[in-house]
Amino acid sequence: MKLRIALIPGDGIGPDIVAEALKVMGAVGTKFGHKLDFSFYLAGGAAIDSVGVPLPESTLLGCQDAEAVLLGAVGGPKWDHLGGEMRPEKALLGLRGGLGLFCNLRPAILYPQLADACPLKSSLIEGGLDLMVVRELTGGIYFGKRGRNEAGDAAFDTMAYTTAEVERIVRMAFDIAMKRNKHLTSIDKANILETSRLWRSVVNRLAADYPEVVVDHQYVDNAAMQLVRKPRQFDVIVTENMFGDILSDEASQITGSIGMLPSASLRSDSFGMYEPIHGSAPDIAGQDKANPIATILSVAMMLRYTFRLASEADAIESAVGRVLDAGWRTGDIMSEGMRLVGTKEMGTLIAQQI
Ligand code: IPM
Ligand code: MG
Repeated sequence: MKLRIALIPGDGIGPDIVAEALKVMGAVGTKFGHKLDFSFYLAGGAAIDSVGVPLPESTLLGCQDAEAVLLGAVGGPKWDHLGGEMRPEKALLGLRGGLGLFCNLRPAILYPQLADACPLKSSLIEGGLDLMVVRELTGGIYFGKRGRNEAGDAAFDTMAYTTAEVERIVRMAFDIAMKRNKHLTSIDKANILETSRLWRSVVNRLAADYPEVVVDHQYVDNAAMQLVRKPRQFDVIVTENMFGDILSDEASQITGSIGMLPSASLRSDSFGMYEPIHGSAPDIAGQDKANPIATILSVAMMLRYTFRLASEADAIESAVGRVLDAGWRTGDIMSEGMRLVGTKEMGTLIAQQI
């Protein structure tokens, strides 16, 4: 197969980790006989520095032309003084909106090899932790009208959803629940927000199409507490954009392995954008210290969701498992008795295991 992939290394550690993902993709291509067709694009701070805007038109067009996008990370203190429209983060929102990527999958998995890194009591995670946050990504308060009054002393942001927007993300979440443990928790603030009441009614209506899935609803404040109180009660979580932003950070932290977690941003066809859930970590950029595993596992998600290459995706995931089993660790996941390696060596070890 020929795989047409747009690459956006971005800022900070982005180029470091994307380079290792390329190594691993190269190994997969050789082993399984796929031809890889890569094009590089600028976004975020790197684009601001070289062409003056966070998301150049050429990047959006190039991504639209590819079958999938792999993104490292964007942003950093260098660009923090810039105003709203010029911030590196604007590139992410522009890509999500411009490519129509309404469905964000953020798996939170506790790797048994890294169980010590989990900040929760071990009794709470006995039996492991494997949940999937399905976050709506192109609606809600992120994309609603915002502004200030003339005096500049009052501001507003708008959270808005249509039934159609809720339906398509909730359907994706039900479909995912069907392939997992058939338990869907919808998270909202229906005691306060009208958008949440609409959301909840859509979930209840669609539930009739998925009689095998057990559905429950939680208010977002309670869900934030339940995630640390009893995380194993969750299988698939579905929620709107901002709640998903917040809860997915929490879910990733309880695994203790933020450097390990990938994500996928999808729409209804096979196109997708894949990226690690962690940020650009400018303090360790270019120092061969970053953990490339989240980006490498994002490639596995790309192979699985966009290219439907399940064996290739499995090959990457099991290669990562074997490297961890052998005791190799980057600094962020290092513990006593393990063997410390840098970004490049970690990438090489995983590529060799393919
Ligand atoms: C994320 C990030 C982004 C978001 C920022 C960088 C715009 O926090 O992907 O979770 O808020 O969606
Ligand atoms: Mg976030």
